[in-house]
Amino acid sequence: MAKQVAIFASGSGSNAENIIKHFENNPDVNIKLVLCNKKDAYVLTRAKNLGIPSIVFSKKEMEEGEVLTILRKEQIDFIVLAGFLLKVPAELVAAYPDRIVNIHPALLPNYGGKGMYGMKVHEAVVAAGERESGITIHYVNEFFDSGTIIFQARCEVLPTDTPEDVAQKVHKLEYAHFPQVIESVLNKLA
Ligand code: GRF
Repeated sequence: MAKQVAIFASGSGSNAENIIKHFENNPDVNIKLVLCNKKDAYVLTRAKNLGIPSIVFSKKEMEEGEVLTILRKEQIDFIVLAGFLLKVPAELVAAYPDRIVNIHPALLPNYGGKGMYGMKVHEAVVAAGERESGITIHYVNEFFDSGTIIFQARCEVLPTDTPEDVAQKVHKLEYAHFPQVIESVLNKLA
């Protein structure tokens, strides 16, 4: 039986698209649903273009358990957060132990936590004069960016790099590694 996967996203969805395309011909993994907390997020257009159903929900609906109800009804086995900006409620984390992964555009535990997302992360890395940045893929717990780390990849940050330059290098790492890391985690699932 193929593993049923839901992707949560809040914004553009370039990682979501990359993941959907990666698993398109994989009989063991079905990207069944895209869930989003922003009705005008471009990820919804990407999902539509790729033929993946999507559901928009509010923060309140997530916190009141309605999203968990949807996941159970859809028989979702595994959750991927790809640019999802809300904290996952403890009840949902408990329902999916080591079955929710997230990607963060920095080398956790640095440059993570509440409010550290998107360009804010790269601006902080450049402002701190870091010589490297990268990505972290980790299991999700009920706190921001603090679950067990599964994978990290690094990129060089030059003194002349702008936050946009760093963002570009980090996105390249995301597209190169996230689908494969998800696949390897899914392969280990019972
Ligand atoms: C990515 O940088 C990812 O690391 C972070 O949010 C961004 C999402 O970009 N979690 P996109 O929506 O996948 O284009």
